[in-house]
Amino acid sequence: MESEWDTLRLLGAVTAACLLLWATWGVGCTVYVYLLPQVRRGAPWLRAHGAWAVVTGATSGIGKAYAHELARRGLNIVLISRNLNKLEHEAKEIERLHGRLTRVIQVDFTGGLEIYEAIKTGLKDLEIGVLVNNVGMLYENAMVPLLDCEDVAKRLSDVINCNIMSVAQMTATVLPQMVSRRKGIVINISSFTDKKPCPLLSAYAASKAFVRSFSQAVGTEYYSQGVIVQTVSPFMIESNMTNNVKYPTLVLNSVDFARQALDTLGLTSQTSGCFNQAVQTALLAFLLPSWFCLSRWGPKFLLLLTNGMMKAKPSHRRP
Ligand SMILES: NC(=O)c1ccc[n+]([C@@H]2O[C@H](COP(=O)([O-])OP(=O)(O)OC[C@H]3O[C@@H](n4cnc5c(N)ncnc54)[C@H](OP(=O)(O)O)[C@@H]3O)[C@@H](O)[C@H]2O)c1
Repeated sequence: MESEWDTLRLLGAVTAACLLLWATWGVGCTVYVYLLPQVRRGAPWLRAHGAWAVVTGATSGIGKAYAHELARRGLNIVLISRNLNKLEHEAKEIERLHGRLTRVIQVDFTGGLEIYEAIKTGLKDLEIGVLVNNVGMLYENAMVPLLDCEDVAKRLSDVINCNIMSVAQMTATVLPQMVSRRKGIVINISSFTDKKPCPLLSAYAASKAFVRSFSQAVGTEYYSQGVIVQTVSPFMIESNMTNNVKYPTLVLNSVDFARQALDTLGLTSQTSGCFNQAVQTALLAFLLPSWFCLSRWGPKFLLLLTNGMMKAKPSHRRP
């Protein structure tokens, strides 16, 4: 009896020690990545990867903010989106505000393989140091079961081409020159939904799970050849996708977000982008665990929650 108690005590002590170690590691990593300005890589480090940055979905929200912030840190910018007027306007703004060179490529990423020829031609002869795979879309304006969205087949094809195909094809387009120079950074904008299946956002969340998995694997393949691949998984940022919803302190604006997220480059390959988003993502995982979201009550609860939020803010959308 005495020896059984001793074994149990030993097991308890080992478990407690492991938990303590795990918590200390988590807190240590969070402090290192988000809260220590002195460990951040500077603009010269970023510029040393190549003179140009390419940003998809660069005319609004997070992509626009990344484009401006990268230009502010000294890179020339290639902006890619589907609206030429917006592209030219944003390019002029970058040249005026940051004094960098720009190039624009008009492309609709819901298209298939054929659109990438124009991109390859547009990027020819540029030394690309940073690629930001930012473009992404929801398939409906609200959280809904799959069959509740209009023209399901077209929406699914659009989401897959825009959120998945663009990341894979853009990476494959830019990676060879990064590998041959043994320098380069690929930033893939994912979402907090990339970690587990998400009812009512099924295809969107699955597309982001692809982004996360692809980034991690390709990052491992090319790390030894000087290429850094970072996955950025924000929770909720003020942008068109979220109908510019404003909840002070909870929802960051895209400019602050891009600035803080770029500060984590070279420190971590997976990030929520900043401390604020990391805390909210961790809280959400705790309050809405996978087993509950995927139970039969999960979708009903999520629907109630989003309907409540939509009543409070009529045009509210959730990424
Ligand atoms: N905002 C959030 O809270 C949040 C949270 C998690 C993850 N994310 C992810 O962050 C990324 C950016 O989102 P955001 O909130 O900044 O979105 P946004 O404000 O809607 O901006 C999307 C950008 O992509 C362009 N775009 C959209 N569809 C396109 C297409 N088919 N072809 C070419 N360009 C297209 C848009 O330009 P035009 O419309 O002018 O073409 C715009 O520049 C997405 O991948 C999203 O999934 C956002």
